[in-house]
Amino acid sequence: MSEPAQINVPVRDAIRFLLTRRSGSAKRMTGPGPSPDELETILTAAMRVPDHGKLAPWRFIVFEGEGRSRFGEVLMRILKTNEPDASAERLEIERTRFLRAPVVVGVVSRVRTDVPIPEWEQTLSAGASCFALSLAARALGYVASWVTEWCAYDPAVRAALSLSPQERVAGFIYLGQPSDVLEDRPRPQLSAHVTRFGA
Ligand SMILES: Cc1cc2nc3c(=O)[nH]c(=O)nc-3n(C[C@H](O)[C@H](O)[C@H](O)COP(=O)(O)O)c2cc1C
Repeated sequence: MSEPAQINVPVRDAIRFLLTRRSGSAKRMTGPGPSPDELETILTAAMRVPDHGKLAPWRFIVFEGEGRSRFGEVLMRILKTNEPDASAERLEIERTRFLRAPVVVGVVSRVRTDVPIPEWEQTLSAGASCFALSLAARALGYVASWVTEWCAYDPAVRAALSLSPQERVAGFIYLGQPSDVLEDRPRPQLSAHVTRFGA
């Protein structure tokens, strides 16, 4: 993507897009998912985020095709170890967890401690990346669902994903089409979340 920086964005449309966007549900997602070209665009947008110190403190793990079921087998095996009494239904949920959407992107936050940039700011950049990824997917006609669930935090899953101690899963972002109408959810009242300094 080598668009000129001064590209004339239709601002009204962008505001409408931001004020009406919402997530899909990972549980109610179907295909098709983004094409390889679209996914490249989505991931490129996910890297175009504020990033103090130009550290690029994130990386992406794409789960698509067979990779989703292979990861499901890993999750099932780990759950069996964690919970030897887990029911067959629960194991099946893990086996098929990443099959809920055609594409899932794991956004990994990678914090460096050898630089003067606060870790908090590096972590925030990974959150921005998750949201930019979600917005780009929505703009291309897909829905996104940013979830973490147990697998973002489990030590054995971390090892299976080859995460270093400085890395954390910021989100698994499910991408696809909604399988039913997207209802909105109640939104917070602006006035409850804004104060004016000195007023
Ligand atoms: C870091 C993070 C982790 C989340 N993890 C989950 C999760 O594990 N399960 C879940 O149902 N929603 C999770 N959510 C919430 C959804 O992504 C989303 O905010 C919610 O469904 C409503 O989204 P919307 O305001 O975009 O419509 C998470 C959100 C964030 C920011």
